[in-house]
Amino acid sequence: MSTRKLIRNGVLVTASDTFEADILIEKDKITQIGIGLIPDERMEVVDAAGCYVIPGGIDPHTHLDMPFGGTVTADDFATGTTAAAFGGTTTIIDFCLTQKGRPLIESLQQWHAKAEGKAAIDYGFHLMIGEMNDQVLEELPQIIEEEGVSSFKVFMAYKNQFQADDGILFQTLQKAKEYGALVMVHAENGDVIDLLVRQALAEGHTEPIHHALTRPSMLEGEATGRAARLAALADSQLYVVHVTCAEAVEQIARMREMGYRIWGETCPQYLTLDQSIMDQPDFEGAKYVWSPPLRESAHQEVLWNALKSGQLQTIGSDHCSFNFKGQKDLGKDDFSKIPNGGPVIEDRVSILFSEGVVKGRITLNQWVDLCSTRASKLFGLFPQKGTLAVGTDADIVIFDPSVNRVISADTHHMNVDYSAFEGMQVQGCPVTVLCRGEYVIRDRQYVGTAGAGQYVKRNKYDAGAPIPMKHPVTAVNGGRS
Ligand code: URP
Ligand code: ZN
Ligand code: ZN
Ligand code: ZN
Repeated sequence: MSTRKLIRNGVLVTASDTFEADILIEKDKITQIGIGLIPDERMEVVDAAGCYVIPGGIDPHTHLDMPFGGTVTADDFATGTTAAAFGGTTTIIDFCLTQKGRPLIESLQQWHAKAEGKAAIDYGFHLMIGEMNDQVLEELPQIIEEEGVSSFKVFMAYKNQFQADDGILFQTLQKAKEYGALVMVHAENGDVIDLLVRQALAEGHTEPIHHALTRPSMLEGEATGRAARLAALADSQLYVVHVTCAEAVEQIARMREMGYRIWGETCPQYLTLDQSIMDQPDFEGAKYVWSPPLRESAHQEVLWNALKSGQLQTIGSDHCSFNFKGQKDLGKDDFSKIPNGGPVIEDRVSILFSEGVVKGRITLNQWVDLCSTRASKLFGLFPQKGTLAVGTDADIVIFDPSVNRVISADTHHMNVDYSAFEGMQVQGCPVTVLCRGEYVIRDRQYVGTAGAGQYVKRNKYDAGAPIPMKHPVTAVNGGRS
C-alpha cells in the first residue's frame, strides 16, 4: 500500500476555518494542503467528495481496563480504542489510577502494560493524585519531564476510595503551577454526598434514581466553585471534568470572567439524556448511573449555551463501560453499589455533530475545536495533533454528513451489552479514519491493528508564555525513554 495518500474533493474543517482543499499525506505526516493538488502514479487517491475532512478526534477523558466499583470496565485498550476509531477519535487520554503509598511511576508502568500491544489509536495518560507526601513531591517533576504526563486528576468525591481533601488539591495546584501541568478535578462534594447516600439507604431507598437524588447539582456547583477558588489562590490552572449543571457552569464562567485559567469539559450524555431515564422499572435506570448524575432536562440548554459561548471548552466521553448484566447489577439491591459510568467513546464526535452542528447549536468549527483542537492545546499535544496543517500528524477523519443512522448496541463496537443512546437518530458518520497516515477505519470497516497505537508524551501546560518544547510530541511506540 502506498505511503503517499492524496485526499481530494473534501471540505476541510479546522477549529478556525472551513475550505475546499486537498491533503497530501506522506508516511505519517501531512505534507501539503492545497487546491487542486495533482496526483501522481505513486499516490493513492482517496475521494472525500461530499464529506468533511477534520482532524482526528481527541478524547481527553477515558477509563479503559480500569478497576472500579468492585469490577473492571468492560472495555480494555483493544476494544475501547477500536470503538473510538469507529467514532472518529484518533487519540485518547486515559486516566491512570494510583495507589496510596505506592510510587506514581509504578502505576504509570501498570497503565502502559494495559495499553501496549492493544491500542489501535494513539494514547496518553493523566495521572491521579490521591495523596501528597515527600515521595509524590519528588516524583512529580520526573512524571512531567520524562514521562510526558502533564495533567493530574484529583477527585473531590468517591469518599473512602479516590477522594482527596482540599489540602491535597491545593498543593497539587501549586505544584502544577510550578512545573507546568494542568490539574483536573472531579468536582462534587464527596463528604455530603456520602451522608446523603447513607441517609437514603437507611430510609429504604435502593433504586437507581436515588443515585441522582443523593448527588444534587448544588453540590457540584459548590465543589466547582471551591476548586476554582483554590486554583485562583494558587495562581494555577484548573480543568473541571464532566460538568453537568447550571450551578457548575456559573462558577466556571464567573471565574473565567475574572481572568482565571479555569477550563470546563462536558460530555454527550449530559447534553442529551436527562434524569427521568433513571426512574425506569426493572433496574433499567442503572444503565445511566454516572457521577455526577444526569440532571433535569433544563440543564442541557445551559450546557449547550456554555459550549457555544466558550464557557465550556471540550467534550470528553468519560467512557467507563460496564455491562448491564453481570456488572451494573452489582447494585441491584443498593444503588450505591452500581458501578458508575457508561459507554460513550464511539458516539462522542457523532452526537456533537448531529445534536450540535445539525441542530444549529454550535458551528462546524466549534465542533472540531470541542472534539479535538482544544484538548490538544490544553493537554500539550498541539500542533502535532488536533489540527490539519503541514507537518502535523496525519490523524484525519473523513466524515460524511449525509448518512442517517440509529445508534444501537446491535451495531456499536464497544464491548458492552447496551447503548446509553439506544434508538437515537444521528446524522453524519465517520467513514474513514487515519491515525498517523495509516487507515484504522476504511469505508466504515475496521482495518487497524491492535498495538499500532502509540504512546504520546505530552508537553507541559502552556499558560500563555512560550514554554520550550521538551518533547517534540513524536509518538514513540510504547516508549517511555
Ligand atoms: O460515573 C463516572 N463518571 N465514572 C467514571 C469515573 C469518573 O468519575 O470519571
Ligand atoms: Zn469523575
Ligand atoms: Zn425509593
Ligand atoms: Zn471519568
